[in-house]
Amino acid sequence: MRLQGKVCIITGAASGIGRAASLLFAKEGAVVCACDVSQQALDKLVEEAKDLPGSIDPYVLDVTNREQVFKTVDEIANKYGKIDVLVNNAGITRDALLVKMSEQDWNAVINVNLTGVFNMTQAVAPHMMKTQKGSIINTSSVVGIYGNIGQTNYAATKGGVIAMTKTWAKELARKGAQIRVNAVAPGFIRTPMTEKVPEKVIEAVLSRTPLARMGEPEEVAYVYLFLASDESSYITGQVIGVDGGLTF
Ligand code: NAI
Repeated sequence: MRLQGKVCIITGAASGIGRAASLLFAKEGAVVCACDVSQQALDKLVEEAKDLPGSIDPYVLDVTNREQVFKTVDEIANKYGKIDVLVNNAGITRDALLVKMSEQDWNAVINVNLTGVFNMTQAVAPHMMKTQKGSIINTSSVVGIYGNIGQTNYAATKGGVIAMTKTWAKELARKGAQIRVNAVAPGFIRTPMTEKVPEKVIEAVLSRTPLARMGEPEEVAYVYLFLASDESSYITGQVIGVDGGLTF
């Protein structure tokens, strides 16, 4: 098992890519501290994982709530004695063209996708610094590199996530620490997030995608798994595309 005994925090753990990753990590022997805003979805996840070799420890957590973030991370560190992996996967969209985007939609996406990643990493990093090791995985997007019509707020956060990844890869590896920080940039993945995307937009993207299909959540989860495991021990500061070839 590739994550035997590792304590892993996954945000946005109860749906889509986060759900697939939680189940895969538990299959590989991890203790998965599954954080999400939805209690009901977390209950379902726990039920689904009950026969897997690892475990799912659910936490109702809003990554924008700093007080709750620090309290929960400390609770996890006290309970398990260490934190090996953080997957900053929680994310939302509130799409609109630039001239129509409300300040509320701008702020909502910045708060979850950018400040949420900052909050979680700021709370977890000191625990990794104590053990001098760890792996942090940030979920970016192809949109954070190439932009996308109607996604000013989302693209800004996903580009920001790449910039934070590269900064933390440098900052957290000082004094010999083996704390790695990488980003994953998915293309179009079949999850509740993309259910709202109009069919003709999806068709246009697929016509430019060499593999000519949407990705499945498990195909992103396997990349999280590799980055979480010791198999990727010499990889840090990277952005790994999981997009069927859309952006090469
Ligand atoms: P999803 O909508 O299926 O799942 C997102 C999860 O995050 C949900 O369970 C939701 O309850 C949770 N969440 C939302 N706000 C939260 C908060 N404040 N605190 C904690 N949890 C919160 O989305 P999906 O598709 O699985 O996305 C996962 C990540 O992958 C996101 O960061 C998204 O931006 C990114 N991504 C997704 C792509 C796709 O095509 N589905 C493409 C590129 C990136």
